[in-house]
Amino acid sequence: NPIQDFAGLSILLTAGPTRESIDPVRYITNHSSGKMGFALAEIAAKRGATVTLITGPVNLSTPDRVKRIDVQSAEEMFTAVKANLDGQDIFIGTAAVADYRVDTISQQKLKKQPGQSMLNLTLVQNPDIIRYVGHVAQNRPFVIGFAAETENIQQYALNKLVTKKLDMICANDVSQSHIGFNSDENALTVYWDNSQAHIPIAPKQAVANELMTLILRQFHAS
Ligand code: PMT
Repeated sequence: NPIQDFAGLSILLTAGPTRESIDPVRYITNHSSGKMGFALAEIAAKRGATVTLITGPVNLSTPDRVKRIDVQSAEEMFTAVKANLDGQDIFIGTAAVADYRVDTISQQKLKKQPGQSMLNLTLVQNPDIIRYVGHVAQNRPFVIGFAAETENIQQYALNKLVTKKLDMICANDVSQSHIGFNSDENALTVYWDNSQAHIPIAPKQAVANELMTLILRQFHAS
């Protein structure tokens, strides 16, 4: 058994993609598999934390001693996060939340119209879940975000650290297909205050273990 250095701490995580319905049979989503978030949940529980994992649709089994809540859309994920935020010491947002959803979900299957070569969907912005958590006034948890970027990685990550009011951000270079979305390995550069640390490429469980150590150190220092 690993050292129980997270004993007594409650951790809330989001993982996976969200699924934004267009009509009863179609949706918009992304390539997140949930593996990174599930690895973090597994490691945190093994190290003694009380873990709640809110996940979009994924094909993964629930790690031991983890309370799992399944959701579909960003709005459902937001509702579940708000309902489970009380008493959390640490919040980690690994979910790839859709920034936009279709403004009105069609009640019936959209039909192909003869002669109509274009179909326009109007998208509206989803709530920013981690931004909400970063800005809560009372009993705010220690907040860690992820940033999946394909360019200007450091700049975009640092921008999210500030605007979403996070304590730490983990930048994920997803221009490389062997790490990040849906792969079994990952590499991260973590930023906080005026510091940074690099976690080199390794299986997501190993990256999760290193990241949890980094988080615990900063949590106690804050
Ligand atoms: O699931 P895997 O296949 O293992 O892949 C892991 C991963 C690549 C999905 C993960 O490591 C990762 O980088 N997750 C963040 C994905 C992302 O695109 O984040 P973002 O840059 O859109 O958002 C930044 C932060 O805000 C994230 O912590 C995100 O959870 C949060 N967010 C974003 C939008 C929104 N509406 N609500 C949010 O909470």
